Parts: sequence; C-alpha cells; structure tokens
Amino acid sequence: MNKIGMNERVEALKAEAAAALEKAETTQQLEDVRVRFLGKKSELAKLRKGIGALDKAERPAVGKLLTELQRSLAGGIETRLEEIGRQERARQLQNETIDITLPGRAPSFGSEHPISQTARRMIDIFQSLGFETVEGPEIDTEYYNFDALNTPAHHPARDMHDTFYIDCGGKPYLLRTHCSPMQVRYMEQHRPPLRIVVPGRVYRRDADPTHSPMFHQLEGLAVGEGVRFSDLKGVLALFAQEMFGAETRVRFRPSYFPFTEPSAEVDFSCSFCDRDESCRVCKGTGWLEILGAGMVDPEVFKAVEYDAERYTGFAFGMGIDRIAMLKYGIPDVRILFQNDMRFLTQF
Ligand code: PHE
Repeated sequence: MNKIGMNERVEALKAEAAAALEKAETTQQLEDVRVRFLGKKSELAKLRKGIGALDKAERPAVGKLLTELQRSLAGGIETRLEEIGRQERARQLQNETIDITLPGRAPSFGSEHPISQTARRMIDIFQSLGFETVEGPEIDTEYYNFDALNTPAHHPARDMHDTFYIDCGGKPYLLRTHCSPMQVRYMEQHRPPLRIVVPGRVYRRDADPTHSPMFHQLEGLAVGEGVRFSDLKGVLALFAQEMFGAETRVRFRPSYFPFTEPSAEVDFSCSFCDRDESCRVCKGTGWLEILGAGMVDPEVFKAVEYDAERYTGFAFGMGIDRIAMLKYGIPDVRILFQNDMRFLTQF
C-alpha cells in the first residue's frame, strides 16, 4: 500500500471508529471499541507493521499519519468515556433516589412494667427520706419467715401465710410470704441506727381479682434510739402525699402482727373521689386499705440480739401491686401478670 491508499484507509478507520463510538453506550462497550481500534490485533497495529515494507521516503509521513490516527482515536474514546460516565451516574442517581419525605419506621423499645415503675417511684420516695434499698432471698427458711418474727409453729398468724414448703436436705425452706424476713437478716448483720426498704416478690395461697399467689411488697424498717410511733406516722403520711397527691391523709386502725407492738392497719384517703357513695375504688368509705405497720416487737430485737431497752423501731409492709393498681386505675390484679401487649403498651 502506498501513501495515497494509506490516507484513504486512515480516513475510513476514523469514520468507522466514530460510528462505533456513537453506538457504544456503556463503559464495557467502549472498552470493546478500544480493543477493536487500538488493540494488538487492530487494523492500526497491522498498518504499523506494514510501514517496514514501504519506500524509505514514505515511511516518516505514514508513521506520522498513523500516530495522528492513534491520538485521534484515543482522544475520541476518552471523550466518549467521560460522556458515558456522566450518563451512567445520572441514570444511577435517578434509579436509586429515595423518598426522604416518607415517614420512618419507629423502632419498638418496649417499656418498663407498671409494677417496676411503681416500685421505682416508691423506692425513690423512701430514698429521699434516707432509707437504703436492700433485697433478700425469695426462698427463705421457716426461721426467718416466721420464728424470728415472733411467729412460732402453730401460731394462728401462720394460717394467713400459707405457702409452698420446699424440702432442701431436711432444712425447712419455703417461698417467703412477706418481705419481713429481711428485717431479721439485715439486723443480724448491722447495728442501729438503720433505715431500709426491701422490695421483692412474695407468695401466698391466694387467687382472686384482688389477690395473686405471687405479688410484690415493699417492706420498711427503721431502728435507732428514740424512734417513735409518730416517726412512723410522719414517714407514711409523707409517702402517701408524694405517691397520691398533697391532699392525701392517712388513718391508723389498731391491728395485730406478731412482730410489731402496737400494730396498725394504715389507710390512705381515696384519691379517686371525695367520699363519694358510688366510688367503686373505696366503695364509698373514702378510705383505701394500704398497708400494715407498727413498732418493732421487743421479741424480734431479742432474736437479733439488740438491746430492746435502748433501741426502738418501726416497720411497715405494703403491696406494690396494690399501689400500682390504685395509681393506674387497674381493676384486676391478674392483668398485671398476663403480659398482654394491649395492656403493657399503655405504659
Ligand atoms: N409483713 C406483713 C404482711 O405481709 C406486713 C407488715 C410489715 C406489718 C411490717 C407490720 C410491719 O402482712
């Protein structure tokens, strides 16, 4: 081939390449075009090899022509590559758009059980009065649950505290019927003055709309020199007001517990009505039975080797579930333990 023929060939190649570039729509197709026109087996490569066969005089001009061709092809590919890249990005952006105005899916975090919320609030109130929070075992011995609390075997008070007994190698274990055993356990380990509250699960043979065989109590104990019944009254009155509102009043009725003397049942004025005949919560009495309390019986001090001549103390015990039911207006204690989501998600 001479120089004239070469010129034609080069022009034809340019035109072919321009058409191929036009058709290429992806970077992959463009890569194919590059191999076809600039690769080792391309026409251009063949033409270069043919230079040696030309007249010496023609070689430089043809060489220059082919170099120009190569530059123009490479430049064309480069330009097209940028174009296609831009198009591909635009297409990608369009396909992958997200609608940021759509409302998000809120993760579900759950919430604290109403009994836990109530217990925490109760503990907070007593903590502000200097009561430390301690916990004790749910499976305890007959000694701590009854005997050390001045309730010997065959004491009639045991009847109201029927529970499961557990045979543990001969030692009489049981599911504790109240949190009072922790009074004894704590006093065995500490000297007065002391102030504690004991939250926890307790068990009794009871099951109806207002009694669950497993329920929760908060026990309180304060011991020191010169601790008086009026201190008990002040602490409980303050608790009642913090829990149910500043207008809440307390009422003490004489009662009996083996481990307190004197003993009292304590009522709070009904926070649902103003002595309303039709009030279903207080049944028209204006009062709600809330807890048992009293001055620590000297017999209990004897069991823990405290000097009953020197120290006095008060104790109280109340149902956390009962307080939660009153606080949230829950009519049936059993709802608290069914774990029905329709109920739990309301807290
Ligand atoms: N432990 C008693 C009960 O569960 C309540 C109570 C505690 C009474 C402390 C007096 C003092 O019935």
